[in-house]
Amino acid sequence: MARPTLFITRLLPQPVMDAIPTHYQMLTEPVDRPATAKELHCGFSQADAVICTLADFIDASLLSCTTKLKIVANYAVGYNNIDLSAAAERGIIVTNTPDVLTDATADLTWALLLAVARRIAEGDAWIRTGNWTGWTPTQMLGADITGKTLGILGMGRIGQAVAQRAAGFRMSVLYAGRHAVSSPPGLSWTRQSLDTVLTHSDFLSLHVPLIDTTHHLIGQRELVRMKPTAFLINTSRGPIIDESALLSALEARTIAGAGLDVYEHEPTITPALRSLPNVVLLPHLGSATLETRVRMGLICLDNIAATLEGRSVPNRVN
Ligand code: DGY
Repeated sequence: MARPTLFITRLLPQPVMDAIPTHYQMLTEPVDRPATAKELHCGFSQADAVICTLADFIDASLLSCTTKLKIVANYAVGYNNIDLSAAAERGIIVTNTPDVLTDATADLTWALLLAVARRIAEGDAWIRTGNWTGWTPTQMLGADITGKTLGILGMGRIGQAVAQRAAGFRMSVLYAGRHAVSSPPGLSWTRQSLDTVLTHSDFLSLHVPLIDTTHHLIGQRELVRMKPTAFLINTSRGPIIDESALLSALEARTIAGAGLDVYEHEPTITPALRSLPNVVLLPHLGSATLETRVRMGLICLDNIAATLEGRSVPNRVN
């Protein structure tokens, strides 16, 4: 019997590569750079199963070259990079990697929040210049976090994990989202309108998926509603924010700062953002811990095995 063919668009952490069942035939050895259009076409046209990343755009045209593809396992929780209906029309299952990256992404959200409020990256850069001459009472004053109000847009798994961590800082939590969620025992999260969350938050963190209605959810209209002392944190998807409106708000200091892990036109970043002191920029590291990235890969392999063996597919999204 022919072995199932697997196409992986990009090198995954070694423990995942080592876990690929030996009875699969790898179409190519994955490399650590984006696959070219030609490589994607070649892989998709011959594979039974594909593992792709959020940087691969799997549109109707690419899917039209498939001949026997049964599953696209997206190595991410977000799947805005895949045309789900085009896949469904061809009977191709699409899966994602929920749950396993919730804590890593929530932790990174807090790392950004702390970094921008307490000027961590700025301080580190200053020390490295060799020009620091010692402590002064007025040096690099940041903003308090403890006791402030955290606003969350999108109270799904990651939004809730971010909110839980706020308890350690005795923060009030407001959120706007499609569904009301129950606060864990001892915590009190308050659901409010988008405008109320915007106007009352000292820190606003974004955790909505990228869909048509969340594209530019935060633009000029929303930014002007935020407090001039507020910080905006984004570890969801770049196009949720209108990056040029954000740049104007940061330059004019109509908000105090931003912590960004994702960008509207990733990996291109609005160049002027790089020279602003009141912004901390990370290269899309939300799920980037070894343990998490291994778990994500193992989930992709589980979904592929379930599909190829005709079992129920755990993380199907279409
Ligand atoms: C995801 O899984 O959607 C994350 O953005 C990856 O880091």
